[in-house]
Amino acid sequence: MSDQPGGCCRCCCSFIFTLGLTALFMWLSLRTDNPTCYIQNFYLPGLNKALNNTANNTLVIELKLENGNKDKGIYYDAINLTFYDFPNKSHLMGNYTIPGFYQGHKKKATRQPLVELNKTLLLQATYPNGTANFHVDLATAVRFKIMAWKTKRHKLDVGSDVEVNDQGIKTNKKKIKLRSGASEHKRYCAQMGALVSLVVLVFLDF
Ligand SMILES: *[C@@H]1O[C@H](CO)[C@@H](O)[C@H](O)[C@H]1NC(C)=O
Ligand SMILES: *[C@@H]1O[C@H](CO)[C@@H](O)[C@H](O)[C@H]1NC(C)=O
Ligand SMILES: *[C@@H]1O[C@H](CO)[C@@H](O)[C@H](O)[C@H]1NC(C)=O
Ligand SMILES: *[C@@H]1O[C@H](CO)[C@@H](O)[C@H](O)[C@H]1NC(C)=O
Ligand SMILES: *[C@@H]1O[C@H](CO)[C@@H](O)[C@H](O)[C@H]1NC(C)=O
Ligand SMILES: *[C@@H]1O[C@H](CO)[C@@H](O)[C@H](O)[C@H]1NC(C)=O
Ligand SMILES: *[C@@H]1O[C@H](CO)[C@@H](O)[C@H](O)[C@H]1NC(C)=O
Repeated sequence: MSDQPGGCCRCCCSFIFTLGLTALFMWLSLRTDNPTCYIQNFYLPGLNKALNNTANNTLVIELKLENGNKDKGIYYDAINLTFYDFPNKSHLMGNYTIPGFYQGHKKKATRQPLVELNKTLLLQATYPNGTANFHVDLATAVRFKIMAWKTKRHKLDVGSDVEVNDQGIKTNKKKIKLRSGASEHKRYCAQMGALVSLVVLVFLDF
């Protein structure tokens, strides 16, 4: 018996070590990233001074949805778009629902709906110098496809302000990323916390 002092302890340690490593790999392969949403284009023909066409209340918006997950597909629920005037944001100018769909891993999707906005509010939104400000909210829920099974629903609630020039086009030349409030950062911190404690656990096992 005294031939192998601490044999049982060593066995126990390697068991915990293996458990820790397994947990780490499980966590790495089950981790999911929400899709990233951008406004690629935002055009209001009615606010284009060159057209002299204030009766047109159509918004042409191009959305880009990117699934950055290496090996997980995404099932989108119906995507609700809501449009407000800004900085007031007290007035709902219009809304639009994009039907749900499936997106494979590392894929990009583009949607370009025509949205009818409230004409009265649209005419009020313009500053004397011709620019106008809006706010776009996007709300949906997504499920991730990990091999054969689907995860539970994750809420996606993002938005951004959009400034439009006197040609009715968004002033920001680059695509606008839609962001959530603080929740995304919190989620990231929680994930990093879990990872760090796992690594600590694994090293304590030595
Ligand atoms: C714009 O339209 C109004 C009425 O529809 C017209 O009176 C005016 O001359 C037009 N202006 C230009 C620059 O075309
Ligand atoms: C407004 O302009 C857009 C783009 O030119 C066009 O597709 C749409 O039919 C127009 N809407 C109305 C109500 O005239
Ligand atoms: C929003 O704007 C409208 C008109 O521009 C104004 O009458 C109203 O008081 C504003 N509301 C808030 C909460 O600022
Ligand atoms: C969307 O707009 C329609 C018509 O303007 C309105 O009846 C409906 O309540 C709106 N839905 C939401 C979620 O704001
Ligand atoms: C547009 O907005 C105004 C002001 O909020 C409201 O009185 C009007 O009923 C709205 N029109 C439509 C068609 O929703
Ligand atoms: C137009 O006016 C608004 C409000 O006065 C201001 O916030 C905006 O920066 C102006 N835009 C330009 C291009 O001057
Ligand atoms: C989107 O709008 C529909 C109808 O108003 C509603 O039933 C659904 O819960 C909304 N989805 C989200 C994620 O807010």
